[in-house]
Amino acid sequence: MHREDFSMLDGNLIYFDNGATTLKPKVIMEPIHEYYNTYTASAHRGDYDNSLIVDTNYEEVRTLVKDFIGASSEKEIVYTSGTTDSINKIVFGFFKNYLVKGDEVLLTKSEHASNVLPWFLLQKEIGIKVNFIELDNDHKVTLDNVRKSINSNTKVISIAHVTNVIGDVRDIKSITNLAHQNNILVLVDGAQSVPHIKVDVVDADIDFMAFSAHKMCGPTGVGILYGKKDLLDKTTPIIVGGGMNNFFDIDGSYEFRETPNKFEAGTPNIEGVIAFGRIIKYLNSIGISNIYNYELELREYAVNKLKEIENIVIYNSNSDSGVIAFNYKDIFAQDLAIYLNKYRICVRAGNHCAKILKEELGVKNTCRISLYFYNTKEEVDYLVKVLTNSNIKEELF
Ligand code: ALA
Repeated sequence: MHREDFSMLDGNLIYFDNGATTLKPKVIMEPIHEYYNTYTASAHRGDYDNSLIVDTNYEEVRTLVKDFIGASSEKEIVYTSGTTDSINKIVFGFFKNYLVKGDEVLLTKSEHASNVLPWFLLQKEIGIKVNFIELDNDHKVTLDNVRKSINSNTKVISIAHVTNVIGDVRDIKSITNLAHQNNILVLVDGAQSVPHIKVDVVDADIDFMAFSAHKMCGPTGVGILYGKKDLLDKTTPIIVGGGMNNFFDIDGSYEFRETPNKFEAGTPNIEGVIAFGRIIKYLNSIGISNIYNYELELREYAVNKLKEIENIVIYNSNSDSGVIAFNYKDIFAQDLAIYLNKYRICVRAGNHCAKILKEELGVKNTCRISLYFYNTKEEVDYLVKVLTNSNIKEELF
């Protein structure tokens, strides 16, 4: 769908690495050009016409994001530099104060580094305990296993909505429901879900959520932290400076601005945020449910085709997202990625920053296809053709 919108698809590139970052549609350039060429100014600082245009355009994006994820208020939308930044802001700005020694955090073994390492650091710093919810035979989270993992010390569940290697879609609404019955807060890593699936933070009763613009056709260096207003109000900014304070004085006194501005110190990525707004309008015009349905259809097609290849092992046949993790028997995943690159096919290979997952899968490295709405069955057919080349090993070594 919509391939003509992407300059990167003008040639013969096959881009199957959308879990890492997506391609950008041509429309992303318009707001960036316009900002640089016609109204460059800083945000929230000027008293002249161009700075007013900046503030208006920059703040309008908060409303677009709010509506995109079903939040209640613009005040619950914090601009960050990406998912990693958003999660760090909450782990160290909120949970570091909220948790005490002996409290427990629940993760899963398929989480990405940015939803594991901040918790490991906090474990070391304040003596909380990080535990892992057991996964089922398909490496999925079941509500039963969440229930079994909860004890009286559990205070947080921090979990990806969709994981980046297994691509399983977690039932976040049921998880938050169970968590809240037990006075547990839920942080959702939405990096791999918000670009593909309709997420409604109010309906799912999510406490905090993080996601990145660049995984949904937007610019790099822009992310969102969503938090319920009362929780964000209790969160301390971990980065302080200009733009986020009301005053400070020689006696050491200071006052921070209100949520969300208190989290946005320094000159922000103005053109990135404004371009992200344009991208949200673009995705809305396609329709997020059309995107998801298309990806599911393409996934099924790809999985069935790959299953027909004798030497291919698929690790997540039963997931319901566009992520497919596989290996070619007796070929190291990164060698396979290099082989595919010869045919201008881009996949990711390795551990995909989900370094604990090897405990589950029994393999350290996999090749990963991650689909988006501009991928096609013809591209899958070409991948299959390249993978069925009987000279694959000779070409590699
Ligand atoms: N989380 C990103 C990926 O899966 C970086 O590739």
